[in-house]
Amino acid sequence: MHQPHSPQSSAPATGRGAASADSPAAAAMVDLRDVHLTLVGTAGPVNILRGLTLAIPAGQSVGVVGPSGSGKSTLLAVMAGLERAQGGQVQVAGQDLSRLGEDGLALFRRQRLGIVFQSFHLIPTMTALENVAVPLELAGRRDAFDRAESALDSVGLAHRRTHYPTQLSGGEQQRVALARAAAGEPDLLLADEPTGNLDATTGGGIVDLMFALQARHGTTLVLITHDEGLARACDRMVRISDGRITEDSGDAGADRAAAKAARAAGG
Ligand SMILES: Nc1ncnc2c1ncn2[C@@H]1O[C@H](COP(=O)(O)OP(=O)(O)OP(=O)(O)O)[C@@H](O)[C@H]1O
Ligand SMILES: [Mg+2]
Repeated sequence: MHQPHSPQSSAPATGRGAASADSPAAAAMVDLRDVHLTLVGTAGPVNILRGLTLAIPAGQSVGVVGPSGSGKSTLLAVMAGLERAQGGQVQVAGQDLSRLGEDGLALFRRQRLGIVFQSFHLIPTMTALENVAVPLELAGRRDAFDRAESALDSVGLAHRRTHYPTQLSGGEQQRVALARAAAGEPDLLLADEPTGNLDATTGGGIVDLMFALQARHGTTLVLITHDEGLARACDRMVRISDGRITEDSGDAGADRAAAKAARAAGG
């Protein structure tokens, strides 16, 4: 189903997801326009996203930063079709998410997305290995368990595969969640604080893994983080405040992307 991608570079890409200079929107993996979302809590309505516009070309890595409560996780939920925008347009991987029903959205997520939730969302009654393998099985991968084993291995958790989530540390749960999100080589990986519970060395390994996925498969990465160093290591950094984009480094990171691709190709 997935085409192998050549490593990313700042030169025009080829194949699906190719960005062309004259029609960037056509190649956008994420295209959000004037998105509005208000949720009603016990204390009344909260106007969370207030006209947020963001287009992300296929294959780009974007670090999203912003203060606590600014709407980052909500933005991720909108991109994943887990929250519906009340205004504006939400197009992801060429799909207008407002046109999909709940089943369609579930299928869309299974086939195209990998999501690392801020609170992991592992299934408590399944082992680490099952947590990673079951979504692959649901997506029809016959090699689900083999893939899951190697995904767990790549996050350094081969020795924990029979552990249940309650038998794992916070950082280990986070790594299982990352293995689950990455194992299917998604077109779009959405990660909410993927290194939030990890020490610098382990976190660095996880970040390398995500960038390797980007280089190898052309995966578009959206990494929500409080770590500005990680955000700056992405091709592009955007800042969100009060439910809007207030800063965008644009393509300033294109050189870094090329250097990263060269490193990935060499190693
Ligand atoms: N279901 C909900 N009902 C009402 N308000 C909500 C709901 N979910 C989130 N909010 C509010 O929306 C705002 C944005 O929340 P969100 O989780 O997107 O922030 P965030 O930028 O991810 O913050 P953090 O960095 O702390 O994770 C917060 O003020 C939060 O209290
Ligand atoms: Mg959050």
